[in-house]
Amino acid sequence: MTLLDGKKTSEAILQEIAHEVQAIKANGGKVPHLAAVLVGNDGGSVTYVNNKVLACDRIGFGSSLIRYEDTVTEQELLQKIQELNEDDNVDGFIVQLPLPKHINAEKVIESIDPRKDVDGFHPTNVGRMVAGLNAYLPATPAGILQLLQRYDIQTSGKHCVVIGRSNIVGSPMSILMSKAAYPGNATVTLCHRNTNNLAYHTRQADIIISAVGIPGLVTADMVKDGAVVIDVGTTRVQDASRKSGYRLRGDVDFDAVAPKCSFITPVPGGVGPLTIAMLMQNTLRAAKKEVYG
Ligand code: GUN
Repeated sequence: MTLLDGKKTSEAILQEIAHEVQAIKANGGKVPHLAAVLVGNDGGSVTYVNNKVLACDRIGFGSSLIRYEDTVTEQELLQKIQELNEDDNVDGFIVQLPLPKHINAEKVIESIDPRKDVDGFHPTNVGRMVAGLNAYLPATPAGILQLLQRYDIQTSGKHCVVIGRSNIVGSPMSILMSKAAYPGNATVTLCHRNTNNLAYHTRQADIIISAVGIPGLVTADMVKDGAVVIDVGTTRVQDASRKSGYRLRGDVDFDAVAPKCSFITPVPGGVGPLTIAMLMQNTLRAAKKEVYG
């Protein structure tokens, strides 16, 4: 069993990007700039966005963090997005999800200029991805592809079972794994909350990618010997022994499942760190005008 070390892989990617930023600076080019919009004080979201800004600092990107109370109106938010769309210094920006209920997240996402949509959430980027055109890929699925690639994991002709159909992970992951590309070329089954007999499907899987946020959902009896298991779940569960009062748990019952696997991601330190690296990669591509010219 090999652990898929997301931290190490992410560090390697961030190093590559940092070198490229140095070269851009040396040549007098535009230093990539990422802006992040954060609404409210959700613990997970605050941590994610802070880590994104810290990553920018580390690799030499410019960054701006724009924070609002969760009482912000949709109108105010749309106004800010308009400003960011028009700001030539901002190459890409994200609006951290989830948003408060009184704000229409779809409307917010659709108001982002697709050329600056480094999350890859705008329908234009989603459509381009589905059609196999150059697009910003959403960070978590793109990070998983990087892990598969950098550990030289074979995917062609394999049976990949994705659990979860979110717009952010499950749905794009299922599409990317089915593409005639590497990593990809897999036969894909997409399971979700209405799937009958989930274990029947996962037992056939050469590759399991779980992104549902149910701690311990994937148990040892659901996994075939030699499977590759990718765990996207990061649910905060109470843990009085930690200073923070919580720890992160994945969708996979790691201790029981790991011995059966050829490769498996830990939680934390698996997929999580890759998402930041891929957001940085998208921002670099935005600054270089690689996707839309
Ligand atoms: N919430 C959970 N994951 C993400 C992400 O990748 N981007 C944004 N903007 N919000 C998220």
